[in-house]
Amino acid sequence: MENFRFHVTTDIRFGKNRLGELPEVLNQFGKRVLLVYGGGSIKRNGLYAQIMAQLESNDNQVFEVNGVEPNPRIETVERGAALCRKENIDVILAVGGGSVIDCSKAIAGGTFASGDLWEMVTNRAYAGPALPLVTVLTLAATGSEMNRGAVISNLKTKQKLGFGGQNFLPKASFLDPTNTYTVNAYQTAAGSADIFSHLMENYFDNTPGTDVEDGIAEGLMRAVIKNVPVALATPDDYDARANLMWASSLALNGLTGASKAGAWSCHAMEHELSAFYDITHGVGLAILTPRWMEHILNERTVPKLARYAKEVWGIRETVPELAARMGIQKLSDYFSECGIPMTLPEVGITDETNFQKMAEQAVASSKISTLAFEPLAVEDVVSIYQACMTPSKYV
Ligand code: NZQ
Ligand code: ZN
Repeated sequence: MENFRFHVTTDIRFGKNRLGELPEVLNQFGKRVLLVYGGGSIKRNGLYAQIMAQLESNDNQVFEVNGVEPNPRIETVERGAALCRKENIDVILAVGGGSVIDCSKAIAGGTFASGDLWEMVTNRAYAGPALPLVTVLTLAATGSEMNRGAVISNLKTKQKLGFGGQNFLPKASFLDPTNTYTVNAYQTAAGSADIFSHLMENYFDNTPGTDVEDGIAEGLMRAVIKNVPVALATPDDYDARANLMWASSLALNGLTGASKAGAWSCHAMEHELSAFYDITHGVGLAILTPRWMEHILNERTVPKLARYAKEVWGIRETVPELAARMGIQKLSDYFSECGIPMTLPEVGITDETNFQKMAEQAVASSKISTLAFEPLAVEDVVSIYQACMTPSKYV
């Protein structure tokens, strides 16, 4: 195991009926609040009204940025940062999924960053100050509620880039599983595929001696496998939603990635799919991951893939390569059973025109060609995209 720092100070308020604690949390930072939310799900399910009631009784002055897009855009960040500067905002309250929280982080930093805010993103690391951020999570997926990362899109340049800010870590996050009851089946499955992918990206890494991280990741993967079908069949099953929500935070708060210095392959490839075609992040990951696993299956990688098949999917096959293939098939079948379309044409990507350019960008904007579990060159990425065009069998 390598040296690492784990300093994740987000004050997690997990469970139902805790919004009464919101005033106390916000008052640590001031009364002028920027409320950030998405396309209206929080109005339809009543959460907006509950939050406004708390803010009104607490005499907050509330300003709003709404309409944050899934795959949030730099223009929305600019709009929010301008409002924060103009209205002297004390604290940002993000109510939504990863897109709303990511956009809020970029606004929090963008309020202080000078010049073109897209440069803040393309620099990939923001060391400057940021407004304090409090979140109310409504979708279990990204882990943004408990980490320092944000992913912002620029449709003009066809780029979707992740960047980190040392001051982006939410000060507090309200994790009420009942707020995810209204997430539809498609987004529930996509969010869960994202959680699963975060665990796998950390798990398939070359750092030796990481039994703690890998064991936690295997346990979290088993919890996701068990609880997604329950949440899909019974959207208001509290324990299923609660397990998915907590898994989302723990999958990407640094716990399972501690000491691991590798590069994430499927995320680098997926960000290009979303940048060029604006598809749902978790769906892109679900389509890519089994193809990526098959592509990197070789003598060196097979032991870890076989361990994954055994520990995560309970596969008893003793021939390592066959066990590894059975594990890949299980994952692919599982995503499919969750209702995720498993080829690119099914999400509207019907030709290969952009694959070369996307692969070049994926390699240029990440370290997948050097630090990945199995390094990927541009031609590897192209052939993984190509494999996603038709249904696949792995055994
Ligand atoms: O916009 P509204 O109306 O709120 O609807 C949203 C949106 O349409 C809806 N939704 C959210 N909560 C709901 C709900 N619908 C009904 N009931 C609720 N309770 O779900 C749709 C998707 O929301 P979004 O926030 O886009 O989903 P997610 O949480 O999956 O976030 C995806 C974004 O996060 C980035 C992704 O790339 C993508 O841009 N990521 C952020 C990461 C991070 N900060 O650490 C890491 C991830 O790997 C990921 O890249
Ligand atoms: Zn992700």
